[in-house]
Amino acid sequence: MAIFFDEGSRTFTLRTQNTSYQMQADGRGALLHLYYGPAVDGCCLDYLVTHPDKSFAPCPSDTGLDRNYSFDALPLEYSCQGSGDFRNTALEVVFSNGGNALDLRFHAHQVSPGKPSLPGLPAVYAGRDEAETLKVTLKDRFSEVYVHLYYSVLPEFDAIARWAVVENRTNGSLVVQNALSASVDFFGTEYDVLTFGGRWAKERLMSRTPVHNGRLEVSSRRGASSHHQNPFMVLCDRTATEEQGCCYGFSLVYSGSFTAFAETDQMDQTRAAVGINPQGFSWTLGAGECFTTPEAVLVCGTAGFGSMSRNYHKLYREHLCRGKYKHARRPVLFNNWEATYFRFDEEKLLAIAKEAKALGADMLVMDDGWFGKRDNDLSGLGDWYVNEKKLRGGLKPLVDGITALGLGFGIWFEPEMVSEDSDLYRAHPDWCLRVPGREPLRSRYQLVLDMGRPDVREYLFGRLSAILSSADISYVKWDMNRSMTDVYSALLPPGRQGEAGHRYMLGLYELLERIEAAFPDVLFEGCSGGGGRFDPGMLYYHPQIWCSDDTDAIERLEIQYGTSFCYPASAMAAHVSAVPNHQTGRVTPFATRGAVAMGGAFGYELDPGKLSDEEKSAIKEQIAAFKRQYELRSYGDYYRLNNPTENRRYAAWAVVSSDRRQAVLSYVSVLSEGNPAPQIIKLRGLDAAQQYQVVGKGVCLTLTGAALMYAGLVMPELPGDHQAAEFEITAI
Ligand code: GLA
Repeated sequence: MAIFFDEGSRTFTLRTQNTSYQMQADGRGALLHLYYGPAVDGCCLDYLVTHPDKSFAPCPSDTGLDRNYSFDALPLEYSCQGSGDFRNTALEVVFSNGGNALDLRFHAHQVSPGKPSLPGLPAVYAGRDEAETLKVTLKDRFSEVYVHLYYSVLPEFDAIARWAVVENRTNGSLVVQNALSASVDFFGTEYDVLTFGGRWAKERLMSRTPVHNGRLEVSSRRGASSHHQNPFMVLCDRTATEEQGCCYGFSLVYSGSFTAFAETDQMDQTRAAVGINPQGFSWTLGAGECFTTPEAVLVCGTAGFGSMSRNYHKLYREHLCRGKYKHARRPVLFNNWEATYFRFDEEKLLAIAKEAKALGADMLVMDDGWFGKRDNDLSGLGDWYVNEKKLRGGLKPLVDGITALGLGFGIWFEPEMVSEDSDLYRAHPDWCLRVPGREPLRSRYQLVLDMGRPDVREYLFGRLSAILSSADISYVKWDMNRSMTDVYSALLPPGRQGEAGHRYMLGLYELLERIEAAFPDVLFEGCSGGGGRFDPGMLYYHPQIWCSDDTDAIERLEIQYGTSFCYPASAMAAHVSAVPNHQTGRVTPFATRGAVAMGGAFGYELDPGKLSDEEKSAIKEQIAAFKRQYELRSYGDYYRLNNPTENRRYAAWAVVSSDRRQAVLSYVSVLSEGNPAPQIIKLRGLDAAQQYQVVGKGVCLTLTGAALMYAGLVMPELPGDHQAAEFEITAI
């Protein structure tokens, strides 16, 4: 049992393996947040709530002449507009009379085993004995507006999945202007916030900022979760480190515009919240209708960031990713993008495939440029018909040729987009997002199809399934290469345009669900100009996502480091590419590129025909090593051993098997130094009493887990910049 209700005090306690979360319907029925953190048992924590006279604090009418009871500074589970809470609230609705006030009070609750799914939305899933769900229903004091707050507790992962359903039982319609997924009020302001911002080719760089007076917000208004911020925020103790202290992850299972913020208030409390970005959003709820927010997954790490990340990794690998490739071995692939860009034909692809096969690869992926009129990015998107001038004889002979080699075949699509120079756009100019009477903004010369339209989805399903059924295709890279603007749908009336962005996401999710159900053996990889939509929403459909268009091994150190705070290594597609690197011009050793790419879902993005024999044998060794270590690297526990942004001299991380009998340590020295001080790396997560053999880079040692963790391993001297060393650590 994970959910406890004390009837006398109307207190709910959610208990995971290491944490407690407590809330209470107080004497007036307000749902107060009492506690979230390391487990506290047998205690009602309502003594933490005080009611000082704050002045300028509005009091609800049912408090009579008591001027000390106000929502202005109470810790609330789901605050609402117009109730006297002046902080950023979780909910705002506008009634048909124009009023926007609510006063939500406790109405009912229900506990059930397992975890419900969310209608039309991606979400964590769990069996009846893996989770327990609490539904708390609040009701507006003056109307028939109900809010159902859901809390699914997954004890094994120290996780609580939260979402809200707003139900309109009034006779008229109302407009939801804001409905966040989760909001938690913490006592005190002694917190830091970790956020994961960046830009194209530099995604998810971790930064740590103290909570300060006012509001610290990260958000996307781009219609996608974006390269620029990730729908993931961590609130943590000021003293929290990788191994110590308490931290709270707020991860939104959504791929569209979002907000996440930490806000301090007058009473030195901190509100942390996450949800759909209310900017540009509104949703009309007719009488009897419901609106369901996306899910937010909260993980509390009681032993530092590492403990939180490892729980997210396991939870998302096992209870968010779905389908055959949740557990089936993923192929080591060769992608032709950086090898050829748009300049390829069937002969070129077959030549790459032959070489790739000889080196031990499992798949050839044909990237952008195979369809319509597509010799550059000016045209062709939307025309999902094979360009037979390029691929003579069509797709089938090419795919047959590649599968005859013993390789799988993968293909690239960018279904959500349309080029103005395309037959699709000429036939259906109204299918894209555009504001009437205005020219839409172009980006990469392309416009965005309105995924909220059933006819658009039907066309895409038809074209994609025709291509996928026409040959033996076992992988799809689903790309999306621009931010959304002109978010206006021709199908919606003017007063409902605030729904267009969210309807786009619901439509996209529906299409993904349908196509993936129709092709259950195909591995889908997500992509958005690299990692522009690297979020849990997409992980529900794609077990791996292209991490970044920046394939430079040194740049990837920070990108993969930041990504690892929430997302498992198995989700981060990472490829070895040619040097000088196409994004940075940097030349790094082959071994370093391999070591970094093996930190994710591994593959190559180069023309093997242009490699030296030495490089080819390096590839053979890398692929063989990756395959040997596949289980460990894909499902092991991930330990960040330093912060490569803070300490730019080196990066180190390790993966340890769950039985602690095997580990791989990866180390990259960034810049070489004259007369370097010895670099000692302390492992984590091993069994202190166990003897291990350590092999790698000229090292062969037998040491105990205690020696490796507490005394550490001396890194060999690595002359030259950007060198890597990897060590296999095996219990003996
Ligand atoms: C995006 C992707 C790349 C590649 C190109 C093709 O930028 O991230 O990997 O597929 O599109 O146009």
